[in-house]
Amino acid sequence: MGDNVSYDSNAIIINGERRVIFSGSIHYPRSTDAMWPDLIQKAKDGGLDAIETYIFWDRHEPQRQKYDFSGHLNFIKFFQLVQDAGLYIVMRIGPYVCAEWNYGGFPLWLHNMPGIQLRTDNQVYKNEMLTFTTKIVNMCKQANLFASQGGPIILAQIENEYGNVMTPYGNAGKAYINWCAQMAESFNIGVPWIMCQQSDAPQPIINTCNGFYCDSFSPNNPKSPKMFTENWVGWFKKWGDKDPYRSAEDVAFSVARFFQSGGVFNNYYMYHGGTNFGRTSGGPFITTSYDYNAPLDEYGNLNQPKWGHLKQLHSSIKLGEKILTNGTHSNKTFGSFVTLTKFSNPTTKERFCFLSNTDGTNDATIDLQADGKYFVPAWSVSIIDGCKKEVFNTAKINSQTSIFVKVQNEKENVKLSWVWAPEAMSDTLQGKGTFKENLLLEQKGTTIDSSDYLWYMTNVETNGTSSIHNVTLQVNTKGHVLHAFVNTRYIGSQWGNNGQSFVFEKPILLKAGTNIITLLSATVGLKNYDAFYDTLPTGIDGGPIYLIGDGNVTTNLSSNLWSYKVGLNGEIKQLYNPVFSQETSWNTLNKNSIGRRMTWYKTSFKTPSGIDPVTLDMQGMGKGEAWINGQSIGRFWPSFIAGNDNCSETCDYRGAYDPSKCVGNCGNPSQRWYHIPRSFLSNNTNTLVLFEEIGGSPQQVSVQTITIGTICGNANEGSTLELSCQGEYIISEIQFASYGNPKGKCGSFKQGSWDVTNSALLLEKTCKGMKSCSVDVSAKLFGLGDAVNLSARLVVQALCSKK
Ligand code: GAL
Repeated sequence: MGDNVSYDSNAIIINGERRVIFSGSIHYPRSTDAMWPDLIQKAKDGGLDAIETYIFWDRHEPQRQKYDFSGHLNFIKFFQLVQDAGLYIVMRIGPYVCAEWNYGGFPLWLHNMPGIQLRTDNQVYKNEMLTFTTKIVNMCKQANLFASQGGPIILAQIENEYGNVMTPYGNAGKAYINWCAQMAESFNIGVPWIMCQQSDAPQPIINTCNGFYCDSFSPNNPKSPKMFTENWVGWFKKWGDKDPYRSAEDVAFSVARFFQSGGVFNNYYMYHGGTNFGRTSGGPFITTSYDYNAPLDEYGNLNQPKWGHLKQLHSSIKLGEKILTNGTHSNKTFGSFVTLTKFSNPTTKERFCFLSNTDGTNDATIDLQADGKYFVPAWSVSIIDGCKKEVFNTAKINSQTSIFVKVQNEKENVKLSWVWAPEAMSDTLQGKGTFKENLLLEQKGTTIDSSDYLWYMTNVETNGTSSIHNVTLQVNTKGHVLHAFVNTRYIGSQWGNNGQSFVFEKPILLKAGTNIITLLSATVGLKNYDAFYDTLPTGIDGGPIYLIGDGNVTTNLSSNLWSYKVGLNGEIKQLYNPVFSQETSWNTLNKNSIGRRMTWYKTSFKTPSGIDPVTLDMQGMGKGEAWINGQSIGRFWPSFIAGNDNCSETCDYRGAYDPSKCVGNCGNPSQRWYHIPRSFLSNNTNTLVLFEEIGGSPQQVSVQTITIGTICGNANEGSTLELSCQGEYIISEIQFASYGNPKGKCGSFKQGSWDVTNSALLLEKTCKGMKSCSVDVSAKLFGLGDAVNLSARLVVQALCSKK
């Protein structure tokens, strides 16, 4: 028996039930299948109704019509787990996905198909998109995964934010989006199709909104529901960037404003961001971590207070679900910034209110007469059940804060013993490649992205005249990284800001006779966004490359005979694979092998006991890629340090958010820690292989686990303080407790002007030794009898430990 999914402007209607839907993005290839059940459960516990994911074409069809749906690419299994948990799926097929994913999710073989143009009215492209989309839809149909078949998929998306980039594609763009709509509708999946950021979405496709705030959005058909497909809970990170974060208060504000203004569907992008394993990160320069400051952190731990605050928000809005989806609403304003929105059900006469204050600086106190008096902090929304009782305010956080710590708990892992092997370069340094061309090739079209690396080599003959002195080599490259060698000697390296094009210029020494110029160009994630982004060249692509001598005598080498080689010899020999790595002789680490460019390092380590997530501290390393037991955990670049400016310890949640507003981790590596999923580990010892491209030291590299450390709670008089170690650990110590008017924040609380002396004792009695505890905060409990109007609050800081 299938479910009937329909909608009107007030609700998503499932089997006649009028619903508002909370959804969260979890991209299945950004975690492992072993992690899925836990992530899904935590999403459910957080009050979500649905999980949203893209489908990742490049991973499923790495070679044309050779498909892979194994392991963490088994999206059918992912959907089934979501269904088992009682949640819905929003399936965003794309198959263009953006998503900070390599090449926006397009497989690279598409790029080289004769006559192809991506994302436009082009038959070659449309055929491939149709073939892949049909395959995905049919797989879902065969597994009965559409709601119409009794499955979890309630909505499906075609394309992604095409409206944002459509204008430059002209009429062909318009024709393409119409074709997308017709193709989607022709699949007869029995559930609605959506397009995001597509204000001209052909009917009956619902156009939806992505952004930090979508309250002022309205769909292009008044009968369509107002949907927020991407509420960005934080932001992604690039190599060289600081850590962007977005406060729980502001995310909650955005969601509450959306529902206040008639929204019926909100999806968090991301709910769990996860990890860009292997070479899947988009670009250029997207980091391996895709944490996104999401409610579930990269490792799958609850990011508190965000997770808990949003959980309370969901249950508060759900209190009004019947009224929001059945009623009419009216607004009443108080001054320029405060709005009371009253939803009422004409039949039952029930009411549900939102009271918002969009002023970025001034708090407000609003007197609703018989309905009470409300304190609405600046930039916040109060949710008022029955229009009489405040159940939630987006700026008043009652959820606990959790601070995770990294620990090293295996004696054997304290000092890892490393061996190393040089990347064999005798062929390329001698100018020997595998094919030749009389031009400078575009990189991704040449490598088809089978590797980050492409060697460009040529010979330069000199006859011993004066021009051979004071020569400068100038390479104009489209990026992303360049290393240069002349006559087997290293000359220098360079990369552009954010992976942009740059000019490399270095004096070189040429000898009389034949000189060999060897250039190694590396990509760091292929571009994933913008009109025609797919055609943006990478690598040296036409250069030009010049030799500039005394008196500006210039030789253009661009149409020399260039020899090419794709990839590294170590990649070809699979040095990262524990089986094949045995065929190479490895040397013990010595002074000369530290800080060495183009070097492979290998060690073994013991699997940390327990179930805490595992992470690799890459402090000291330069740039490269890391493999555990042959599986890539991604690129690393810890030597890329984030700028030292504009970091704020705290971030004012008030006022419109943008990704540069709240950043942390100033002056530190953009990414120092790299997730090692437990399912990549063996029961006992593991092989870790690193390829180091620019020089670093593995001596400080270590394997650690991530465990809950300090937790803090905060509750006002009359409410309940809840604390939990969120797992197997127990509260072992109350480090601070104060009932009164305490100051400061988690990690640095201080007593205020008054408090009850033995606050901590009471907490110890209730909480010590427990996995979780709760305290109903009242003056009475703290021995102050029936004292009223104390406006006191309780704050607690506790430590979680193993039993
Ligand atoms: C959106 C896009 C997503 C993601 C996001 C930024 O524009 O649809 O896929 O790229 O931006 O994280």
